[in-house]
Amino acid sequence: MAIRINKEKNIFALVGKNSSYVFTVESNQYIRHLHWGKRIDDLEDFELIPVDRIDSQDAAIDAMPEEYAPFGGLRFKSTAIKATFADGTRDIVFSYLNYSIDNDTLVIHLRDSYYKLFVDLYYKMFEDLDILQRWVEVENKGTSDIILEHIRSAAFNLDGTYFWSNQVSGHWSSEQQIHQERLYPGKKVFESRKGLTGNNHSPYFILNKNADEGHGDVYFATLAYGGNFRITIEVTQFHRVTILMGINPFDFNYRLKPNQKFTTPSVYAGYTKNGFSHMSNVMNDFCRNYLMPKEKRNTLHKVLFNSWEATKFDVTASKQIELAKKAAKVGVELFVVDDGWFGARNDDTAGLGDWVVNKKKFPHGLKELVDVVNDLGMDFGLWVEPEMVNPNSDLYRAHPDWIYYFKHRAPTTTRNQLVLNLSRTDVQRYIIEALDKLLTENNISYIKWDMNRPISEPGAKNLQLSDQRSSWYRHTTAVYKIVDKLRKKHSNVTFEACASGGSRIDYGTLQHYDQFWLSDNTDALDRLYIQEGYSYLYPIKAMRAWVTDVPNKITKKTIPLEFRFHSAMMGILGLGGNLTEYSKEELAFTKEKVSEYKKIRHIIQDGYVYRLKSLTYSTIHAVQYVYQQKESVLFVFLPGQRFIDKHYQVKLKGLDPDKIYEINKKDNIFRKHGDYLMNVGIHFILMGDYQSELVYIRAIE
Ligand code: DGJ
Repeated sequence: MAIRINKEKNIFALVGKNSSYVFTVESNQYIRHLHWGKRIDDLEDFELIPVDRIDSQDAAIDAMPEEYAPFGGLRFKSTAIKATFADGTRDIVFSYLNYSIDNDTLVIHLRDSYYKLFVDLYYKMFEDLDILQRWVEVENKGTSDIILEHIRSAAFNLDGTYFWSNQVSGHWSSEQQIHQERLYPGKKVFESRKGLTGNNHSPYFILNKNADEGHGDVYFATLAYGGNFRITIEVTQFHRVTILMGINPFDFNYRLKPNQKFTTPSVYAGYTKNGFSHMSNVMNDFCRNYLMPKEKRNTLHKVLFNSWEATKFDVTASKQIELAKKAAKVGVELFVVDDGWFGARNDDTAGLGDWVVNKKKFPHGLKELVDVVNDLGMDFGLWVEPEMVNPNSDLYRAHPDWIYYFKHRAPTTTRNQLVLNLSRTDVQRYIIEALDKLLTENNISYIKWDMNRPISEPGAKNLQLSDQRSSWYRHTTAVYKIVDKLRKKHSNVTFEACASGGSRIDYGTLQHYDQFWLSDNTDALDRLYIQEGYSYLYPIKAMRAWVTDVPNKITKKTIPLEFRFHSAMMGILGLGGNLTEYSKEELAFTKEKVSEYKKIRHIIQDGYVYRLKSLTYSTIHAVQYVYQQKESVLFVFLPGQRFIDKHYQVKLKGLDPDKIYEINKKDNIFRKHGDYLMNVGIHFILMGDYQSELVYIRAIE
């Protein structure tokens, strides 16, 4: 049982295989954090040391590590919940009611000491993986509205100040760049105010004490929400670190009517003493076993072709058929038509919102192409951008009021598009019906759902004035609702989340979509950095990567085809080049690599990942995937020759030390013990620019 309670001392513990998370209820009012880290079995040992008053400027309550601090009294720290009651009171005093246990979930029931605002704190430990899920539900049991101003999902407290923070940040075409820094007193904030996750920061924290890939204490937590989020990490004046995670309070409120409930997004948190690789692989398992949509969790994702880089907006039935024939020949299993197939879509100035096939481009409808694709033995997929509208579209001409806008302000366009107000049920209905029609009338197995701009001027005149600032939140939850509805009816369809590349990568999205498009930057070398950052907390099972043409459309770099393949084979392989222009040799090589990928994809998509060497610290880049200690694939890259260096040694991970493995290195086959491979390693001789190798390793029974 993952929940333990010491009733005498009022101590609650969530216990996993190797870790525990412990807190107490103090003075029937404060939920005080006691421990997060190595598993402690005996709750008796916990002492409730009083938090003394510091002085009149710093109150004791600010020094107390609280599980979910409300704004109120002498609290000046960042607080988790803040509300305004109908009479103008705007602080909260908690009163502890009781606890309950429901299906392995511990619920701490609180209420405001006067007003009928009830707050339940939820805790659930996934014992096998030491992952703690936390969320909060509030209910207005009074007779007047309550305005929620802040409503975070969780707070975490860590003892001591000597922590390093690892985060990813970036921008378009340079997503998921890793940054490591020491924490110093004060606050560090990672947030989005764009109405989607964005590519500037990721909604998580990873704090560690000099950890590396294989060793050291790592505390991490990620928010399952792809809208405006805020992660605040504070080194306090009391020598501890407090982290608050949840919906961004910036321009937010939510009017809670009598008898109405509000449930926050969940946070998933973990602790390991075994460094970053262990963290990543626990989360690979967690996503595959518990988090990702059930329908596709256990399938191996297909090799796709995507038309975007090959044809851009110039999508026609004949061109796509030509591409489809080539794609089928090289072993592609899924043919995806990207932007340009609908409405008056010849460039990015028109058509968004009009989800009907362009008759000039497809005189016989989509069916002609879908049939050819299916006859060639491939599934068919389609790109859509459902949350958007171009002013130059039939949808906008019919419903100019369906967008977010403020009175007396011109709505701002970017990429010539505006955002539909998804807090309106008629807009939601329109999107559901349009997509449902497409999925019903055509044999579509894959939807790439894009979002190419943030939300601005988030005015929603369908909402009451006091509820206007909930539009951001309502947009995000409406997207989830729409996708879930479509999934329910079309359970065969795989959904890919894309937002100008990787602007929608988070655990909230991952609960509703099966895959992420990581970046519009398909440069195979840049991708190594992007994929490395991504692999910290996001699962390989969702990492789509394409092999595209050179010079690369964005970076102009010319990288050999083998290096491009090896880079993209580290995720879910896709092809994005213009196959009609490939030489015979290139097509043959592509076919060989696609077939090789199909043999190893279970190791990559369902295995563990080990970052063995990173270009940030090393001349070569090496990443290893291991499937149940039975099979493994090692990718090694040398992007550029350094001086006259040529000898490189790579030590493997995750194997069984006692097993003998057969290694296939460029058709040179030899055997070694796991122990040797992990402690001495494999030797590589690499010289020249853009060198890469794929090594296949399997245990001998
Ligand atoms: C942005 C995506 O990241 C691209 O892959 C492509 O789908 C374009 N949008 C289409 O407009």
